[in-house]
Amino acid sequence: MIALPEIHPPLVNASGILSYPEVFRAFEKSGARLGGYVTKSVGPVEKEGNLNPVVVLPDDPSQPVLNSLALPTQSPAEWESDLAELHLERSKLIVSIYGGSPEEFAEVATRMSPFADVIEVNLGCPNKVPGEETIMESIGQKPELSGHVIRMVRDATERPVIAKLSPNTDYLAVAEACMNAGADGLGCGNTLGPGLAIDIPTQKAILAGTTGGISGPALKPVNLRMTYECYARFGCPIIGYGGIAAWEDAIEYALAGACLLGIGTAFLGKSTLEAAELTGKIWEGVLAYLKGAPFSSLVGGVHRHSAPEPARA
Ligand SMILES: Cc1cc2nc3c(=O)[nH]c(=O)nc-3n(C[C@H](O)[C@H](O)[C@H](O)COP(=O)(O)O)c2cc1C
Repeated sequence: MIALPEIHPPLVNASGILSYPEVFRAFEKSGARLGGYVTKSVGPVEKEGNLNPVVVLPDDPSQPVLNSLALPTQSPAEWESDLAELHLERSKLIVSIYGGSPEEFAEVATRMSPFADVIEVNLGCPNKVPGEETIMESIGQKPELSGHVIRMVRDATERPVIAKLSPNTDYLAVAEACMNAGADGLGCGNTLGPGLAIDIPTQKAILAGTTGGISGPALKPVNLRMTYECYARFGCPIIGYGGIAAWEDAIEYALAGACLLGIGTAFLGKSTLEAAELTGKIWEGVLAYLKGAPFSSLVGGVHRHSAPEPARA
C-alpha cells in the first residue's frame, strides 16, 4: 500500500463543494484550517450536468439536502491548465476522478496524476441527467466492476488511490474488491439514495433531475456506520464524509475510524470566508477535545472502547 501524505489539519473539503482551484487559493488566503483540497470530480470529457434547480437546500439546516448535479465538469485539458497554475503553499491536493468505463477512469487518472498528491476515485454518484446512460449511478454497487476500475487506476498512477464508496449497497463487498485491487484507502462515502423532494405549490419534483443524492445531517449516521464497518474490516486510511458540520461530528467520524474528515454540505450557501471560519471552529473544537493528545489517538477509538457483544443464553 502507498501511504497517504501527511494532511494537517486532517480536514478537507468534499468533492463538489467549493472544489475548484480558485476557491482553494481563496481558502489558503483566508487561513482556512484545511490540510487538503479535493477537486470537483474530473471526467473524461466536458459535461454540463443537469440544469437548475440542482440543489434542495432547506432553510432549516437539520433538514435533508439533495443534489442532482450529475457530475458537471470542465474538460480534462482545462483542469490540466488550471491545476498547473495552482501552487498550494500549505495543503495537499486530492484530485477526484470519474469515467464512463474502467479505461476512462484510468485515462483521467493518468492525466491528473502529475498535479495530484492523492487520487480519489468517485465510485458512486447516484445522480444523472434524465435518460442518460451512465455507469456512475451503479458502479459503486458492483464489486467486480469497482475492483476493475481501481485495478486500472492503480496501474495508471503512482499516487495513493482512495476508493470513494457509495452507501447505497453492500459497500463492504465493494470495499473488499477495491482493497484487493490495490486501493490505499477508502472514502466513506458518497451521497445516499437518490431521494425525492416535491414542491407543493407547483406539485412538481423540485430538482431538474427529478431525484437527487442526500447529503448533510440526514446522511451522517449512514456514512458513520460505513466508516465504522470499513475500519473494523480493513483498518485502512479512511476519509469520512457525510454531515460533518461541527467539531462533534469530526470527533465521531475519527472515533469510528476516519483519519481525514471531509466537509461538504456544511459549506453550501457560505462564502469562502465563512467556510474558512467554520473550518477554524471545527478544528479548534477538536483540539480542545484532544487536550494536547495527537489526533491519531482518536482514530478508531470506538473499536477499542466498545464492549464485546453479550453472550446469548
Ligand atoms: C452539491 C454536491 C456536489 C457533489 N459533487 C460530487 C462530486 O463531484 N464527486 C464526488 O465524489 N462527490 C460529490 N458529492 C458528494 C460529496 O463529496 C460528499 O461525499 C457527500 O455530500 C457527503 O458529505 P456532506 O454531507 O458533508 O456533503 C457532492 C455533494 C454535493 C452536495
